[in-house]
Amino acid sequence: MFAKIKYAWLSGPLMLAAGFLLMTCPSFALDNGLAKTPPMGWNSWNKFGCNVSEDLIRQAADALVSSGMKDAGYQYVVIDDCWQVSRDKEGNIVPDAQRFPSGLDKLADYIHSKGLKFGIYSDAGTGTCQNRPGSRGYEFQDARQYAAWGVDYLKYDWCNHSTQNSEASYSLMRDALAKSGRPIVFSLCEWGSTKPWLWAKDVGNLWRTTGDIVPKWSTNEKNDGLGVVEILDLQDGLQTYAGPGHWNDPDMLEVGNPGMSPTEYRSHFIMWCILSAPLMAGNDIMHMSNETRDILTNKEMIAVDQDPLGIQGHRVRKDGEQEIWSKQLSDGSRAVALLNRGASEQNMTANWTDIGYPASLSAQVRDVWNHKDLGNKTGSFSASVPSHGVVVIKVKP
Ligand code: GLA
Repeated sequence: MFAKIKYAWLSGPLMLAAGFLLMTCPSFALDNGLAKTPPMGWNSWNKFGCNVSEDLIRQAADALVSSGMKDAGYQYVVIDDCWQVSRDKEGNIVPDAQRFPSGLDKLADYIHSKGLKFGIYSDAGTGTCQNRPGSRGYEFQDARQYAAWGVDYLKYDWCNHSTQNSEASYSLMRDALAKSGRPIVFSLCEWGSTKPWLWAKDVGNLWRTTGDIVPKWSTNEKNDGLGVVEILDLQDGLQTYAGPGHWNDPDMLEVGNPGMSPTEYRSHFIMWCILSAPLMAGNDIMHMSNETRDILTNKEMIAVDQDPLGIQGHRVRKDGEQEIWSKQLSDGSRAVALLNRGASEQNMTANWTDIGYPASLSAQVRDVWNHKDLGNKTGSFSASVPSHGVVVIKVKP
């Protein structure tokens, strides 16, 4: 009787509305305050695949520091697939004891002692892409374990998901991470298959937009994976969905992995910076050439990627093999990339009208890659661009 009177006001339409809200509102929106600029770091997968161990990860942490990459902004050291082997009787995830004999908490301590952050990998389905145990049904237990180890970043894959709904599955792990009490960057890896840019802003800090990258400029065969230009084409139109705390992820870098020319590595890096992409190096940073290191640590280029306004660049003009891409920066300037996809060197022009400035405007032009002022130009800028090359400038009114 008492209960009836007390809750009588909740009857009818109000009750329906409350029920609807409970059903449709996620229990937490993503509000972890992380990744205000695109995350930067190193990930084991592109170069080492399943060949991961605590020695490798420690060496990678050391190399991030000694190469100058840490000073350039690289922060997260991420172990991708294959660190996990099974679950124990209580359902706790068990790391490979042969490859990680000291335990992941000790590894996290080591990485933290270098002033870096620790990332790990799991999968929203029952198994990872290499058929290690996934987190399906263990989301809260796994998140609690990661937090106890000192994990700062989770890449969460989408293999073996059967009939699971992607938004629900990723939201569940988001909620589990929030409950863990530790700030953990949440990286969604469902390969763009259910258009995460439409729903993941309140779920993750970054989301993959495509299938896996391979270290090639371009691929022709369907089963070859995606080269740099195939991935670039798939980013066109996604720019409006990115911003501070929530980024499109065109996949990890292949700079320095055999398969591309020095010009192509440079173009790959420049275009990822124009896209405000997460910069996760994927090469052997312990044994890289000076040329590779110089590409990965080009500070003026990285500043374009990390610009605090967080506006993703996009293609503003395409004339056959010649493309102009532009990214608005917080000081009122534009970073502009003149990309030549053709097989021979070409003369290219970026018009101010392409990048949202009047033709009559006189603006300062700076060569971003080579850190050189090129003087004032009115209306346009022209340069000779090598095959598969990019000339990248900053245009400041
Ligand atoms: C998927 C992901 C890759 C990598 C592998 C690991 O293919 O897209 O980035 O994590 O799984 O198995």
